[in-house]
Amino acid sequence: AAPLYILGIDTSCDDTGVGIAQLGAGGVQVRANRIWTQAVHAQYGGVMPELASREHVERIDAVMADALEEAGLKVSDIGAVAATAGPGLVGALLVGLMYGKGLAQALDVPFFAAHHLEGHIFAAASEESLEAPYLALVVSGGHTHLFDVPEEGRYVLVGATRDDAAGEAFDKIARLAGLGYPGGPAIAEAALRGNPDAVPFKEPLQGQKAFEFSFSGLKTAALLAHKAGAAPEDLAASFQRAAVHVLVKTTRRAAETYGRRTVVVSGGVAANTALREAFAATDLHVVFPGKGLNTDNGAMIALAGAAALRAGRPPSPLAAGATAYAP
Ligand code: KG4
Ligand code: ZN
Repeated sequence: AAPLYILGIDTSCDDTGVGIAQLGAGGVQVRANRIWTQAVHAQYGGVMPELASREHVERIDAVMADALEEAGLKVSDIGAVAATAGPGLVGALLVGLMYGKGLAQALDVPFFAAHHLEGHIFAAASEESLEAPYLALVVSGGHTHLFDVPEEGRYVLVGATRDDAAGEAFDKIARLAGLGYPGGPAIAEAALRGNPDAVPFKEPLQGQKAFEFSFSGLKTAALLAHKAGAAPEDLAASFQRAAVHVLVKTTRRAAETYGRRTVVVSGGVAANTALREAFAATDLHVVFPGKGLNTDNGAMIALAGAAALRAGRPPSPLAAGATAYAP
């Protein structure tokens, strides 16, 4: 049979992402992944929702054309469309969601409203076929969520952050240490030149029986160390080691409790080399998304759409709305 091409759209925040996945006899494959990163927000030091929506409106046509060109396909080759419905900024989400619905309607193909976090998890399907059961850690600028996936399409929340997301802590500490934006890559780079023993960080929620995370304590400790004159490189190295340690330790404990051997680690922070190395050193079978698929993108939504198709899930109604806080 001819392969099926699924177009995926993510406009949940400040990246306009369009990707294409191919579903065929050989499994799933990413054929295109184009992202327009909005630079307009840098001057405000944070994402301005209305500006994000407007940029999505202006860019989405061009990003889709780029994705089709990268895959060497015509729009009429697309056999299904998936778009993020939430969680995210509602105005921003609506752009991609409406665009996706319109496209699916015009092409007369199935439409899937996708969950952003399910997209992050399925980004790892770019590397190997994901087969439940497994555990999934989504670590991004907005989320630090640990899910158990006992079967295809079922997500049981095992634990999450009580306060800041891991990526948010990277961003805030980078800003206070004057290391620039985005904070994750800046911290990772500075950490290479720093001493991880220089600043003592107390492990958050030590001794807990649950699988929760907390990053606000590390942020406060970093602020105090910064005021006491800690070098930015040392702060970066010490914080990164503390954050990596607690992410790996809690995930390992959950994997043991839930009896899972395979763990998916995804989201922007999963691009972190120290985190990848620490997970690789465990006895777990850890799956990371491929290059360019860790941070927000459209290909991960196409992969989630491919998984929905493969699992025989019914398409979403065209009335499906955008939700800021998707369950
Ligand atoms: O998944 P993502 O693009 O957006 C959300 O859905 O939040 O994640 C962005 C987050 C930012 O906080 C960024 O600093 C972090 O991912 N990040 C990293 C690295 N690359 C991006 N954190 C640590 N190390 C990195 N190499
Ligand atoms: Zn995300």
